[in-house]
Order: sequence, then structure tokens, then C-alpha cells
Amino acid sequence: MSTITFSCLDWAAVVELVGRHIREIGQHQGPAQSLLDHVLSSQGKMLRAYLVFLTSSLWESASLPVVLDVAAGVELVHLASLIHDDIVDEGERRRGRVSAHRAFGVKEAVLLGDYLFASAFNLFARADAGVIAVMSRAIGEMSLGEINELLQPGRSLTEYWRYIRRKTASFLGACCESGAVLARQGLNHRTVLRQFGEAVGMAFQLTDDVLDYRGSPERLGKSVGKDFALQAWTLPIILAVSRGLLDHSWVHLSYGQVQAILTEGGILDEAWEMALEWLERAQTLLLQLPKGSAARQLEGLLQTLALREA
Ligand code: IPE
Ligand code: MG
Ligand code: MG
Repeated sequence: MSTITFSCLDWAAVVELVGRHIREIGQHQGPAQSLLDHVLSSQGKMLRAYLVFLTSSLWESASLPVVLDVAAGVELVHLASLIHDDIVDEGERRRGRVSAHRAFGVKEAVLLGDYLFASAFNLFARADAGVIAVMSRAIGEMSLGEINELLQPGRSLTEYWRYIRRKTASFLGACCESGAVLARQGLNHRTVLRQFGEAVGMAFQLTDDVLDYRGSPERLGKSVGKDFALQAWTLPIILAVSRGLLDHSWVHLSYGQVQAILTEGGILDEAWEMALEWLERAQTLLLQLPKGSAARQLEGLLQTLALREA
């Protein structure tokens, strides 16, 4: 098998390579093909796949076909989780298109998500048994986090941190840890990379929660104001309530009123600052990893995330 020759791949090249791999995997005969075409034709940013590529190429011991399989697998897991999430959150649009459950029906979308999860694990099994262990733990945590939130929605800062760690950070941590697994690294580097990915995940979810109040639906490819419609206590709401800018009856205000209070009270900027702090933590963790082009690309990625739609 070829050893690493892909450390110079940029984000766009990874999107192209992984996108092609996923579309090849998603070829089947039968009526399910139209569902697969719908969800596979509009690819996302592929942040998770890019992280698998960059982290595994910090060393020169991983092989390209194996990394490509894991990168495609994590994108399939992410896609499956979004299809199920849109059912739970009644999301209407995803990646610039009508969400799968709106286009085909809830039953069909549930089963499609299951199929994508299974396809991902098929790829992980082909790649490396160590990756299966890392991924199954993180996906279990993500699912449990979502179930717990559904049964008992949190309203405090402590609950919020726990929730986003489970639903977003743990899987991004697993993507980065997988890079170390594929490069045959020991526990120390695995742990640093998992913590790095978790910090990126915390930052990413914080920016996502801010953008739900100030992002543009065109650029995000999904509707904004969904958290407000779900009456979710995301960080901006929790901070505003703790400052006395909103009270517990904020759910009776309009989206526009809440948005104005969060903007004018500096809450959205403050939450964004907290995302930047997580990115700084990620940058500090990078210092413990080998220097070189992959490390520089990871640093560039942190800068891109800091500027996301801001
Ligand atoms: C996304 O969570 C689902 C998971 C990470 C499992 P959200 O519900 O907060 O995200 P969007 O806004 O629908 O993308
Ligand atoms: Mg959700
Ligand atoms: Mg959602």
C-alpha cells in the first residue's frame, strides 16, 4: 500500500476526493437510489473528512486509501446524523436543499440514515479495527446526548457545555483521534488529538449557535432561527437570561425581538469570543504535535473557523 503522499492536499482537494469516493459508494440499483442521490448530491464543508486527512498526515505512516475510507466514513456518519437531526428538529432545509424527511417522508429518512451509518461502519471495518472502537464510542455519546436533551432539555451553562460536548465535540474528537490511530501513534498523541478535535468541536458548535441568530440562510444552506423556534436554551439565551436581558418568558417574544436584544446587548459577540477561546486552546494543543505542513494547515483551519460568517 502506498504510504502518505497527500500532506499537500488542501481543503478543496479533500472535498473533491472524498465527494467522489462517497458517490461511488452510494451507487445501487433500485428505488432507494433517488434518496441517496438527493442527500449525496449536495456535499457539505467536509470539515470532519479534512480533519481526518490533516491529523493522519502529521506523521508519514498512514496510507492514502485507508485514510480516504475513514474520511468518507466520517462524512457518511455526519450526514446520517443530520438526516435524523432534521427529523427531530423539524428542519426544513439542509445544505441548500429540502431536508430528506420533507422530500421523501419520515420513515424513508429514518431508514436512509440507518443505511448510511451501516455504510460508514463498513468503511471503518475495511480501514482499521482501532477506528471502529473510537467511532462507535463517540457516536454512542452523540446519540445519548441527543436523547437526554430531548427528554430533559438543559437550561444552565453546565448543562449546555455537557450537551454540546456530547453532540458535537465528541465526534470531532474521534475524527482527530482516528488520524493518530491510522498513523499508528500511541496513547499520548491520540489523547492530544482527541482533545484538539473536541476543542474545535466546542468552538464550532458555539459559532453555530450564534449563527442561528445572525447567520444568513443562503450562506449556511439551512434555515436560521431554528433554535428559537424549538425554544432551545443555547448559549446566547443562557447568557442573556443570566445578565437579566431576557427572563424565562423569552419564548413569548418574537424572533426579531430576541435577536435585537442578543445583538444590542453584546451577547452574540460575547458567545463568539468564547468560541475563539476554544480555538486558542486547540492551537495550544497543536504545539505538542509534530511540526510541518499538516500542522500549518491545521493552524490555518483554526483561523478559517474563527472567521466563519462573522
Ligand atoms: C446537529 O445539531 C446534530 C448533531 C450534531 C448530532 P443541531 O440541531 O444543533 O444543528 P443544525 O443547526 O440542525 O445543523
Ligand atoms: Mg438538533
Ligand atoms: Mg438541528
